[in-house]
Amino acid sequence: MGKVVIMDHPLIRHKIGFIRRKDTGTKEFRETISEIAMLICYEATRDLKLQQVEIETPICHTTVEELSGKKLAVIPILRAGLGMVDGMLNLIPAAKVGHIGLYRDPETSMPVEYYCKIPADCAEREIFVVDPMLATGGSAAAAVTMLKERGCKHIHFLCIIAAPKGIEVMQAAHPDVDLFVGALDEKLNDHNYIVPGLGDAGDRIFGTK
Ligand code: PRP
Ligand code: URA
Repeated sequence: MGKVVIMDHPLIRHKIGFIRRKDTGTKEFRETISEIAMLICYEATRDLKLQQVEIETPICHTTVEELSGKKLAVIPILRAGLGMVDGMLNLIPAAKVGHIGLYRDPETSMPVEYYCKIPADCAEREIFVVDPMLATGGSAAAAVTMLKERGCKHIHFLCIIAAPKGIEVMQAAHPDVDLFVGALDEKLNDHNYIVPGLGDAGDRIFGTK
C-alpha cells in the first residue's frame, strides 16, 4: 500500500488556516496555495534518489550529491491544480508540466474528462499529480487512471485538503500511489464538499464566484 503522509509542519498548518477563511481574497488565496504547494513538494520529494559526483570547488576536488535517475513531471488537474504548479516548479524548476482536464458533474459529483496532454516520455518520469482538493476521490482516481493508461508508472498525488473518503477511494483504486496531504478534514457534506474545507478551490483561485 502506498503511504499517506499528512503534513504536520507549523507553516503548512498556519497557511491552510489562512486559506480556509471565507474573507481571504483571491490574491492572498492564490499566493498562499502556491506557498503551501511548495512546502508539500518539499516533503513529497524527500525520497528522490541521489548519486555521487566528483566536482571541483574553488578550493579542491570533492564528491557531492545530485539528483539521479528519473526526471520529474508535475501534472495539475484543471482547473484548481493549476494553482499549485508555480509552487512546485519553485523547487523542481526542470520538471516538465502536463495537464489533465476533469470537472465534477454538479449533479452526480462524477468526474468528467475533457483534456489530457502529458510529456511524451512520461513513462520514464516520476510524476507528481497536484490538485488542492481530494473530496470523493473521483477526480484524483480518474486522473491517475488516465496517466496509467498512457504508461505512467511512478505516480505521487499531492493535495492541500483531503476528506477521509477521498483517501479511501484513492487507496482502493491506486494502492501503489503515495498521497501527500496538507490537512485531513472531517467529512463531506451532502453536496460532496469537504467540511470544514475551504469551499470551491477553483472559484477561489480564479475569482469566478
Ligand atoms: C474540484 C477539485 C478537484 C475535485 C475534487 O474540481 O479541484 O479536482 O473537485 O473532488 P472529488 O474528489 O470529489 O472528485 P472541480 O470539479 O470543482 O473543477 P474545477 O477545478 O474546474 O473548478
Ligand atoms: N472541490 C472543491 O473545490 N472543494 C470541495 O470541498 C470539494 C470539491
